[in-house]
Amino acid sequence: MYYSDELIEEIRSRNDIVDVVSSYVRLTKKGSTYFGLCPFHNEKSPSFSVTPSKQMYYCFGCGQGGNAFTFIMKHENMTFTEAVKHLAERAGVNLPEQEYSPEEKRRADIRTQLLEIHKEAALYFHRLLKSEKGTRAYEYLKERGLSDDTIKHFGLGYSSNYGDDLYKYIKSKGYSDEVMKESGLFSYSEKGVYDKFNNRVMFPIMDINNKVIGFGGRVMGDAKPKYLNSPETMLFDKSKNLYGMNIARSSRNGYILICEGYMDVIALHQAGFTNAVASLGTAHTSRQAALIKRYANEVYLTFDSDGAGVMAALRAIPMLKASGLSVKVIDMKPYKDPDEFIKALGAEEYQKRIDNARNSFMYEIDKLKEETDLNDPDLKARFYNNVAKKLLEFSDELERNVYIDAVSEEYMIPKDSLIKTVNRLALTYEPEKNKFQNEYSEQERKQSGAKTPKDDGVRAAQKTLITWLIDEPALYNKIKGIISHKDFIEPPFNMVAQLLFQQFEQGNVNPASIINRFESEEEQSEVASLFNKGLLEGMSLQEKEKALNDTVVMVKKNSIDYRNKTVTDIAELQNIMKEQNELNRIRIVL
Ligand code: CTP
Ligand code: MN
Repeated sequence: MYYSDELIEEIRSRNDIVDVVSSYVRLTKKGSTYFGLCPFHNEKSPSFSVTPSKQMYYCFGCGQGGNAFTFIMKHENMTFTEAVKHLAERAGVNLPEQEYSPEEKRRADIRTQLLEIHKEAALYFHRLLKSEKGTRAYEYLKERGLSDDTIKHFGLGYSSNYGDDLYKYIKSKGYSDEVMKESGLFSYSEKGVYDKFNNRVMFPIMDINNKVIGFGGRVMGDAKPKYLNSPETMLFDKSKNLYGMNIARSSRNGYILICEGYMDVIALHQAGFTNAVASLGTAHTSRQAALIKRYANEVYLTFDSDGAGVMAALRAIPMLKASGLSVKVIDMKPYKDPDEFIKALGAEEYQKRIDNARNSFMYEIDKLKEETDLNDPDLKARFYNNVAKKLLEFSDELERNVYIDAVSEEYMIPKDSLIKTVNRLALTYEPEKNKFQNEYSEQERKQSGAKTPKDDGVRAAQKTLITWLIDEPALYNKIKGIISHKDFIEPPFNMVAQLLFQQFEQGNVNPASIINRFESEEEQSEVASLFNKGLLEGMSLQEKEKALNDTVVMVKKNSIDYRNKTVTDIAELQNIMKEQNELNRIRIVL
């Protein structure tokens, strides 16, 4: 954090959220809350709310929320620091020269320099493409059907085959080897320093704020590897970014097209489908899904038609659905990928394929069927059973019935017996999540060092308890002898609880100021969502009491377990055992 918390809070409190939002969104007052059309997703009736008493906004449609800083960051595409400056200026607050700690200064410095280096490199590659040296690369792109506008729009370029052209150029701009090494654009060895990309067509990869964070480079012939990509760096996290998202985010037509390659994205955009994105040569991750979910509720998969594409789709579907996206699958046969499809049949035909995209559930069944020989009675019976099992994924009965109808009709499975099988299996069978999902999420969990499902329950309990406390501040006095802020272990709840409990003690609850402490839009939005759930509405006193006691015990127990694992001090161990004994006696009366 570059400015003091007090200063940031002063800036926030001098910018009334209703005023700030009103300069972008028309708000109408209803009771103590203002409503308007959400600027962050497409909607016809207002579900975007601004609450003056909390100094926060929240959209019930897309779940986006936050304080004045969050709003400006999202709407103006700014970083936290930029938003602070913007709102300081708006309220006439003078900002001191920034003060960094030495480590902050070093990291911020490297990051800034890496962004500059990437920008310089992208400009360099682009200029080279337009120069004589780039003639062949330019012609290659032309042959692939790209217009000059498209080449410029995506900032395409060319890396020369001289070995260290870029290195010399960046060096001449005064950057140190220490920082250049971190950029991943050069390879350092005993023999010297060379450019990583040689004689390739260059695709700059941008984050959603249009900052170049890495590159993909394609050979112009059949050499291997066909594509070479930047390694992961301080700037470039492949699991968090999608190629083309910086443009697709503002296409605002409610859905995103996901394809496999850079050229697919570019071809689709050129044909008018500006909502196309691609993952960066890796499997799709839940963080990418969460990124998409900020801008759309629906995705269409337009992966390659080959076996690998089908495999990728079957893996991506459950993961995308788990993130709350509805998923459809586009069939591009007989063409390999969107690029080739568009080239062969054009945009209108592609639009038809979008219109006829297959519901992802039916697609999964299609693939199940394709791998089964239905002439073999045994296999046929197993197929029916598998279909019934998959239908159990729908926990909602109405929804399940819709699919039972569709499936029995399309696959000519007698409906009555399908229903019977489903019902029979429902008694004994844990709905198996798609096998691909299990593999995938397990792997993803390991990669991210994230939680097992049990931990998710604990997270939810911590979250719920915080939300309740804000909804009904009177609860604080009832739980304060039992739970302390230290019992909230998971970030960001640990920080939120600490600040919130402090505010309770001072008798001055101010949720919007808590959001200040988080600098990324994601964190701000997650924290804001804590402050916006009427969880207690419609519960009887008894139900409330039970839920509250259960939640408190769960949070406490998790905290005790955690401390138990990490304790080194005997006195603390005795404390823990005492608390453990008291756990059974927790009884909060409302
Ligand atoms: N990819 C990669 N490294 C490779 C091959 C592919 O990173 N060696 C990634 C690239 O992002 C590429 C995507 O996977 O865009 C899809 O690869 P592929 O289907 O092989 O290529 P196309 O997109 O069809 O590329 P092109 O049309 O240029 O042949
Ligand atoms: Mn292709």
